[in-house]
Amino acid sequence: RGSAMKPADAINIEDLHRIAKRRTPKVAFDYFEGGAEDEHGLARNEAEFRRHRLLPRYLVDVSQVDQRTTLFGRTYASPFGLAPTGVNSLLRPGAERMLADAAAAANIPYVLSGLGTARLEDIAQAAPQHAWFQLYAAKDRAISEDQIRRAADAGMNALMYTVDVPVLSKRERDLRNGFGRPRLPLRVYLEALRHPAWLFDYFRHGGGPPFFETWAPYSKGGGSAQAVLQAVGELWPAPDHTWRDVERFRRLWPGPFILKGILHPEDAVRAAELGVDGVLVSNHGARQLDAAPAALEMLPAIRVAVGDRLAILIDSGFRRGSHIVIARALGAQMVFLGRPVLYGMAAFGRAGAARAIEILRQEVEITLKQIGCPSLEVLGPHFLL
Ligand code: FNR
Repeated sequence: RGSAMKPADAINIEDLHRIAKRRTPKVAFDYFEGGAEDEHGLARNEAEFRRHRLLPRYLVDVSQVDQRTTLFGRTYASPFGLAPTGVNSLLRPGAERMLADAAAAANIPYVLSGLGTARLEDIAQAAPQHAWFQLYAAKDRAISEDQIRRAADAGMNALMYTVDVPVLSKRERDLRNGFGRPRLPLRVYLEALRHPAWLFDYFRHGGGPPFFETWAPYSKGGGSAQAVLQAVGELWPAPDHTWRDVERFRRLWPGPFILKGILHPEDAVRAAELGVDGVLVSNHGARQLDAAPAALEMLPAIRVAVGDRLAILIDSGFRRGSHIVIARALGAQMVFLGRPVLYGMAAFGRAGAARAIEILRQEVEITLKQIGCPSLEVLGPHFLL
């Protein structure tokens, strides 16, 4: 049934989610869909949007609405971008390139994960105006510094340093599925047999473990996917990274520098004091600390704490254009999307990623027209009850 459907048949993000889920073996899909521990954070991220009411003003001329957004000196077509997500080849071989192409075509930013299954240089070249690089600190900081230099040399447009993974979290779906282990339980293999289109793609591209290409130079055991996977397992995460690393990385990176995973207003203030250009308020899509607040809950306090001293970006749980409009009204400049666009890509490849972006773009436009707000420039808390 899934294969007979077209991207245009999906009328919202949830449709793409359902189609993606049918196509993808459970062991892979659980990794993308799941959260930490009891997954209360996932529910909290979703519920938080329902606490807000947009209060419409009518009899305003909204025949034209402008959702363009200028950030770090560049104007994008919409107030959202694609968040960094790792191991994308498990959804489709060549996934990162599909996402980068879809983002560039829509003129929105694409953040390549530091644990992406593509080489940062290749993605920078594929989307020279739109690619940003997300950095995870390695235990050996010389590696992180090398990645920063490479990202700068390759022309990545911004660096996003993710701070909310001091330790691997407890993702219980993955533990049960044996995700990431060399041998999986028999039932996991049997379940995968029910997803022939995915299996065909996977084996057509050689099968095997995900290839963290960007890390290949740092693998002592050679450049095979398996050796690099093992190297990354030894080098990451870095439980000892601190604000001193923020200072060091900031100095090394010539362009816009963003800290991703900030929830405490005082951390946002400290970032501003250290010359950071933006914070991405996030609970990592509820994949790290299950008891963390929703990002949206912390947004107003962070806005008050830092004022205009740095850009405020946000992600975690955004599924509708109205969610994006609410975050903009509360003071975020740009929203990032993790799973929604992955679902589109998993369902239909590049065209599905483009469909997810189009759905959200249209929903933003309808919402702005519905509330009587012709431009994001005039959107503010006065549109919220
Ligand atoms: C992520 N996220 C993430 N963040 C990051 O900085 N580096 C990474 O490699 C990853 N990897 C990753 C994989 C998968 C499968 C998901 C779903 C998420 C977090 C991501 O950037 C973002 O914060 C969340 O995805 C936002 O929440 P939503 O939009 O998925 O609800």
